[in-house]
Order: sequence, then structure tokens, then C-alpha cells
Amino acid sequence: MTVSLPRVVVLISGRGSNLAAILGADLPLQVVAVISNRPGAPGLELATGRGIPVALLSADEYPDRDDYDDRLRALIDLHEPNLVVLAGFMRILSPSLVRHYARRMLNIHPSLLPAFTGLHTHRRALDGAVAVHGCTVHFVTEELDGGPIVAQGVVPVLPSDDEAQLAQRVLAMEHRLFPMVLRAWAEGRLTWEGERPLLRRADGTPGERWLGLDPS
Ligand code: GRF
Repeated sequence: MTVSLPRVVVLISGRGSNLAAILGADLPLQVVAVISNRPGAPGLELATGRGIPVALLSADEYPDRDDYDDRLRALIDLHEPNLVVLAGFMRILSPSLVRHYARRMLNIHPSLLPAFTGLHTHRRALDGAVAVHGCTVHFVTEELDGGPIVAQGVVPVLPSDDEAQLAQRVLAMEHRLFPMVLRAWAEGRLTWEGERPLLRRADGTPGERWLGLDPS
């Protein structure tokens, strides 16, 4: 009997290190397509090397935002995904597109939301002299970086950090957090029935929603 794994489409814009972490984590899911909005994204090459269908949808070709989003939606739906994963997809999606994937679209953001929505999160964390920083996986809603939080990864901010060092520490955490959440999702342990998403352990009890510092 063939067991069909849940289908995931991943959207990227560049480097694709989160995509690499997802593909390398041996998750019980199938990445059925990788779509980039930027040409030459190294992540596309990575996916091609693994035999995953890739597509490029450049905004240069579809300057009208609604037109772009219609194409993107058609392209994604061609692959009949159960989940759409934004792994460094640096483009704001229209409300209608987001609504189309309601509860079926996850994003990773490089800050501990709701702090530092938007861009330049590491610089802003340093400027704000915060003691901890990190990353967040959340469901995508119409509010930019404002959808329900699924899980967070916490890292310390060291006095000696510059932006690059802090970014690297957060990125390493992203590479742990996203696969953890996707494994839970693929195993049916991530649900969102009430007000908030819930991560459960295999025995059904509420699971940890964060990675990082030892709380003791
Ligand atoms: C990550 O820091 C992600 O959180 C942000 O963009 C970056 C993408 O990196 N949204 P990569 O392409 O996965 O290496």
C-alpha cells in the first residue's frame, strides 16, 4: 500500500537555507514544488538538484500586483498542496491570496514576534538593546507578520554581537524551528481549532511551542 505524504509547496526569494534545512530534515512530507519570485535564487538550484519541480515567477513579468498574485495562486494550486510554506519569501501577498490559503500557509520571520515586524530585524534588535532575540513560525493572515504564532526559537543577544553575528545565530535557530513545526504539522500534531494554533506531543498533551534557552 502506498502511503501518500502531505504535499507542501515552498516559496523562496533567495539563498534557500531554510529550504535546505527542511529538505535535510527527513520530514514525513513531500515538497512538491519550489517557487521563487527572484531569478537566480540559489534555492532553486538546490531544489532542482533534488528533482523537485521549480518555477520562477518574476514581478518584472507581471508588474500588476493582482495579476502577479493570480498567477502565483494558479501556479501553487497546480501542485495541490496541503500546506504552503514561506521560507524567506520576500514579497507581500494580497489579502485575497492569503485568504485562499487560510490556515494552510506558514511563514518564518526572523524576530520574536510581535517585536520587530518587517525588515532589518537584527539591526533593530541590536539598536533596542534587547537581551534575547529569535525567530517565529506563524500562520499567515492579512496582517503583515501578525498571524497566530505557532512556535518561537529564542537566542541570546551577546554584548559583542554585530548584525551579521546575530543574524547567523538566529538563522541557525530558524533551521531547527521550521523543521520542528513542519514535522508536527505533517504528523497531525499542529492544529488550529480554537483561538490559537496548538502543538501537541505524540501522546496528545500540549507540546513545547519554543526552542532555545533552558528555562531553569
Ligand atoms: C530568513 O532569515 C527568513 O526568516 C527571512 O528571510 C531569510 C531567508 O533565508 N524571512 P533563506 O533564504 O532561507 O536562507
